[in-house]
Parts: sequence; structure tokens; C-alpha cells
Amino acid sequence: MLPFLLLLLLSALTPASAWIPVEDWESGNVTTSVGESGQCLCHVYLPETIFPVDRVQHMQQVSKDLILEVDIQLNKIEGYQGKLEVYLKELAALSLRVAMLESSADNYIKLDFEMLRIELREFEALVSQLKESLNSSSPMFDSLYTEIRNMTLIVNQLETYDKSNLQVIRIEFAKLQKKLEECQKEQEYIEPDIGNCNHTGILSISKPLVVQLNAHLSPGYQYGGWGKDSKPVRGTESMYWYGAYSGPYVHDFYQYADYEKLLLRSNSKYHDLAWSGFGNNYIVRGNTMYYQINNPFSMGKLNLTSSAKDYRVIPSASQRFSYSYSDNQNLDFAADETGLWVMYASEESKGKIVLAKIDEKSFGIEDVISTGVYKQRAGNAFMACGVMYVTRPVDVTTEEIFYAFDSKTREEKNLSIRFPKFQEKYFNLDYNPTDQKLYMYNNGYYVSYNVRFNKD
Ligand SMILES: *[C@@H]1O[C@H](CO)[C@@H](O)[C@H](O)[C@H]1NC(C)=O
Ligand SMILES: *[C@@H]1O[C@H](CO)[C@@H](O)[C@H](O)[C@H]1NC(C)=O
Ligand SMILES: *[C@@H]1O[C@H](CO)[C@@H](O)[C@H](O)[C@H]1NC(C)=O
Ligand SMILES: *[C@@H]1O[C@H](CO)[C@@H](O)[C@H](O)[C@H]1NC(C)=O
Ligand SMILES: *[C@@H]1O[C@H](CO)[C@@H](O)[C@H](O)[C@H]1NC(C)=O
Ligand SMILES: *[C@@H]1O[C@H](CO)[C@@H](O)[C@H](O)[C@H]1NC(C)=O
Repeated sequence: MLPFLLLLLLSALTPASAWIPVEDWESGNVTTSVGESGQCLCHVYLPETIFPVDRVQHMQQVSKDLILEVDIQLNKIEGYQGKLEVYLKELAALSLRVAMLESSADNYIKLDFEMLRIELREFEALVSQLKESLNSSSPMFDSLYTEIRNMTLIVNQLETYDKSNLQVIRIEFAKLQKKLEECQKEQEYIEPDIGNCNHTGILSISKPLVVQLNAHLSPGYQYGGWGKDSKPVRGTESMYWYGAYSGPYVHDFYQYADYEKLLLRSNSKYHDLAWSGFGNNYIVRGNTMYYQINNPFSMGKLNLTSSAKDYRVIPSASQRFSYSYSDNQNLDFAADETGLWVMYASEESKGKIVLAKIDEKSFGIEDVISTGVYKQRAGNAFMACGVMYVTRPVDVTTEEIFYAFDSKTREEKNLSIRFPKFQEKYFNLDYNPTDQKLYMYNNGYYVSYNVRFNKD
């Protein structure tokens, strides 16, 4: 039998001329290429197997049924004029061929069917998100949901077979997911100019890229954050971090060697912060995690290399003021091209956000600046190029940057930069100067955005 082919086509939001060619992927049996009409093609070859042949044949039959084509006419896509044709040609064939793992390749993370089902749910969420961001009412999307649900059923049927074989599927799914994201990224590609602050501030925020559900695979782990180090020390440039809990506590914290390991939920290091703090607006900079400590109420830091801890009390910071989405978010850490910051409100400021610059060496506050925005009105805040940006909800699917404060000129500005949310609430939002992206922990999901600056 020929190897089965899992073919995924993701559409181009951009006109063909704006396409950045995607090179074939070298790794494994997953390749991507660009189709004739600019679609993004993801191919996943799953190896030969001695897995139950009848099942596999059944799935091959199913795969033939899974041929879809979606044509969506779009009139309004931000930044593009005229009518753009978008194809979501999805799941031309799906079949899974499960190979026996090489004798003792047990270093793969353990797979169970629940995980596979979660992957499918995520895939469904991705399609749903795509549908929303494209504002399409095409019935073909609905049919795509049906197919995904059908796949879920088949997975359930397969469950009666040897579970260890599905590790292969798990790995392939992770690869596939990564490809899908690459496809999405290509659609919204903005040439970043890392470190350059010669602009007049944020112009727009891209559509959200939903990476995946948190590493606990628990939608209940809503309070947390994820991201990258904003000033990595040598050797940790590819590191990602994630921390979350079911309440607004500082508890589990994980490091991942790179993006793929994050997707595979295979952490390289774990830190038990044992509910030592409240609030989830932590951040990593210089391989050090900065977070809010309870006792005494202070800013804490954890050296991720040595696990050494330290803290500093900020006498004026108050625990009375939090962001609108959650209590206990009193100290919000942020890092940008200009350094490390902490944002909080105080009794003196009457609940308005105070912007404090942290000196990383001494771990002291070197400058304190008053701003004109009430913390309790804000959904969250972040720093980019020395400017504090403050968000608020517009509705359950839309967020807005409504306020900016320039730490250099001390000028404030009202803004209305709107961007879509995947889920309603989020408890951690930060800009990262190393890739000019926003990282949001959106109700248990890892979400990121590209930031576009105004260069005129
Ligand atoms: C692709 O799969 C085949 C088995 O179907 C295997 O022999 C080969 O090593 C795989 N290639 C890579 C790069 O993993
Ligand atoms: C989605 O499309 C409908 C009708 O096609 C339009 O009324 C609505 O404003 C659109 N929404 C967005 C967010 O573009
Ligand atoms: C779902 O799978 C069953 C076989 O398990 C098949 O008969 C049915 O046509 C499939 N439905 C769709 C919409 O693909
Ligand atoms: C900043 O950008 C403007 C316009 O793009 C340019 O004229 C100016 O030379 C730039 N300044 C620096 C320091 O790069
Ligand atoms: C963290 O610990 C390592 C190992 O002890 C040390 O080399 C490094 O300087 C520490 N980092 C900070 C920011 O203190
Ligand atoms: C921003 O909006 C607020 C409330 O609408 C208003 O009181 C304030 O004067 C505005 N600030 C600027 C700089 O326009």
C-alpha cells in the first residue's frame, strides 16, 4: 500500500503577488508548499505500518470523503483593497497510518487518546477562528466541522487498539499544527525591524494566532501567561515559558527548549512557586522571572538558572487595584526595547496606573512616572518602545488599545486600536521586543499577535 497522505490546504489572505514563498520543510515527513492559486499546502506523510489494516482501510475510505473546497469572497480585509478570493481547501484526504515505534524510542512524550481528541478540538477552534477572522458564512466551514467531528469518532474507535502506536500520530499532529501556524503567519507577514523604535507608535495589531491549549490541557487553568524571554542570555534564545493555575496564583512554571517542545508540551525545566504570589502578569527577562509576591507584598524575582529568589517591597504599590478581568493583578511586569518596567496603582495615584522603571542590576526602582489612566478601567497594559499601552474590552471578541503614555515625553494619548480576541478573558498580555509580538494568555490558550508600528 502507498503511504497515506494528509493534505492540508490553508488559504492565502493576501493577493498572490504579496506571497512570501514557503520553502519545503526538511524535517520529517511534513512538507509545505504553495499551490497554484497561492494556497498554503501542508503535506504530512505517515509511515508504513502493521497497524490494523481494516481500520486503516476504513480511514482511507473516510479520507476520500473528506475532500472539501471552500471559496470565500471577501470584501473587507484590513489592509487590502478590493475583493480577495480566499480558499480554504481543507483536508483533501485524511488518513492516519500508524507505525510501530522503533524499538525503544520512549523519549517521546506519552500520548493518550484524550490528547489526540484535544488536538482535534484545537483544530476545530483554529477553523472556527479562521472562519471568524474571514467573516465568512460559507457552509463549507460547517462541513469542515463535521469532518473534524467524524475524525474524533474514528479516534474513539481506534482507542480499542494498541495505544503506544499513537505516539506517532501525536508527533505528526504537532508538526502539522506548526505548519498550519506557519501558513497563518505567512498570511499576515510584516517585516519586523527588531529593536528599531524610530516610529510614532503602534499602528495596528494583527489577527490572533491561536497556538494551542495550555500544557496542562486544562481550560480550567485560566490564570497564567506564556511567552519568550525579552533579553535572553546566550543559549536560551529559543526558550519559551508558560505558567498557570486554576486561580490567580503564582504556582507552576515551565520552561521549554524551543517552540516545538512547547507544542509537544515537553518541558525542559519546572519551577514550583508554591502559591507564593498572586497575579499572573509575570514576565521573563535575562533568564529571570519577575512576579508578584504575597508575603510581604512585593516584586519577586526567580533566577531560572540557579533558582535563587529575591524580592523588593514597593512601599506605595497598593493591592486594592487590579485590572478589570481579574482581582489580584496588582503588579504588572513588562519589558521592551528600553528595559524592565512594573505597572501598578497606588493610594496616592488614586487608583491610576503608575509606571516604574526597574534597574535590573540592583533590582530597585529607578524612576516612577504617574499616568492618567485608572487601573480598574484597564483590561491589561504593556510597554513597547518606552510607551505604555492600555487595553480594555469592546465586546467579548474585541479588545481595544485605548490609551498610550510615552515615558519619555510624558505625553498621553487616547487611541482606538482594535484587535480580535479568541476568548473573552485574558490575564497576561505582554509585548516582546525580540520578535515584536504580543503574547496573550487567553482563557487558557496561547495566543500571539504581530504588532505593526507607524513608520510615517
Ligand atoms: C519518512 O518515513 C519513512 C517511512 O515511511 C522513513 O523511512 C523515513 O525515515 C522518514 N523520513 C524522515 C525524514 O523522517
Ligand atoms: C461581516 O459581514 C457582514 C455581512 O457580510 C457585515 O455586516 C459585518 O460588518 C462583517 N463584520 C466584520 C467584523 O467585518
Ligand atoms: C462520517 O464517518 C462515517 C463512517 O464512520 C461515514 O459513513 C460518514 O459518511 C462520515 N460523514 C461525513 C460527513 O464525512
Ligand atoms: C527615522 O525615520 C525617519 C523617516 O522614516 C527618517 O527620516 C530618519 O532619518 C530616521 N531616523 C533615524 C535616527 O533612523
Ligand atoms: C542567575 O544565576 C546564575 C548562576 O548562578 C548566574 O550566573 C547569573 O548571573 C544569575 N542571574 C542574575 C540575573 O542574577
Ligand atoms: C482622553 O479621553 C478622556 C475620556 O474620554 C478625556 O477625559 C481626556 O481628556 C482625553 N485625553 C486626551 C489627551 O485627549
